[in-house]
Amino acid sequence: MIAPTDIIRLEREAVVILDQTRLPGERVERVCSTVAELVAAIRELAVRGAPALGVVGAMGVALAASKAPDQPERFQRTVLAEAAMLATSRPTAINLSVGVQAALEAATGLWMEPTAARTAIVVAAQAFHRAEVRRCEEIGRHGATLFAMNARICSICNAGALATGGYGTALGVIRRLQDNGLSPTVWVPETRPLLQGARLTAWELAEEGIAHQVISDGAVASRFGLGLVDGVVVGADRIAANGDTANKVGTYGLAIVARYHGVPFYVAAPRTTIDPRTSTGAEISIEERPRAELAGVAGQRTVGDDSPIVNPAFDVTPAALIDAIITEDGVLRAPFDFSV
Ligand code: MRU
Repeated sequence: MIAPTDIIRLEREAVVILDQTRLPGERVERVCSTVAELVAAIRELAVRGAPALGVVGAMGVALAASKAPDQPERFQRTVLAEAAMLATSRPTAINLSVGVQAALEAATGLWMEPTAARTAIVVAAQAFHRAEVRRCEEIGRHGATLFAMNARICSICNAGALATGGYGTALGVIRRLQDNGLSPTVWVPETRPLLQGARLTAWELAEEGIAHQVISDGAVASRFGLGLVDGVVVGADRIAANGDTANKVGTYGLAIVARYHGVPFYVAAPRTTIDPRTSTGAEISIEERPRAELAGVAGQRTVGDDSPIVNPAFDVTPAALIDAIITEDGVLRAPFDFSV
């Protein structure tokens, strides 16, 4: 498996990420030496996936602190301003602000001592990364109890090691099944328009030797109709207090198809993805991505300039369609209530 520090790492004055826009063709690192560069990498999806965004959010605060002036008031003002830029660089995944906040909390009481604050933030950011990987391993352990030998599983987008800084949530469950000798097979919808399924999930599964087949998004429903799917496990970008779950656009349709065919639909996510302050999915802000991402394929224009485009990156699956939410603490069954 690809090592967590090969996916995201904090260096002395940089956050280094494996550039996910270049996969599977090239394995290239992108060095972000300023918070502005890191924000650009986040917006371009060079680093993406909710838990991974939390990790780079925390590391971004460490980067801001490493470059901020030594004068205490200016240090604090600079770090807080750059932290706010990071936290708002993508709107849907709650993990981003959770990671930023975890790093800022480390500086509590230390703002007048920039050297001590820098050290504390670095330690917190590294710890946040390690903890997120551990949470994913636990998710994998709990989730694997839900599937039998030779399960045929569908998972949209990429919720693997790349999306989490190591191991994965939905793919963590599948990885654990494979490690337990249960030989899962994965249906991988390509996940238009940015193809996280075809480019990233298929790459991760191939690296691990896990059986899989890539299908077009339009072929998903007929796999269920033909009786070829035993279960669905997907990641999440934000889970509201009532269990409504935002994830990659297409997840809602997948959940409807699964319910129609009586196939269990599971969400796998760490507690850092649960947002108890958001009561229902209706309150979740859904990112609208640029027109260019939908209006062309491989550099060729596919939509004429006269046709307007709507390009939401995520959708919300109502809790009623979710059979269980797999977290590091165990498998939670409906009715979900994360309000406390
Ligand atoms: O736009 P992306 O690629 O960041 O979307 C990612 C997803 O929707 C993932 O499924 C989600 O973040 C869970 S990752 C464990």
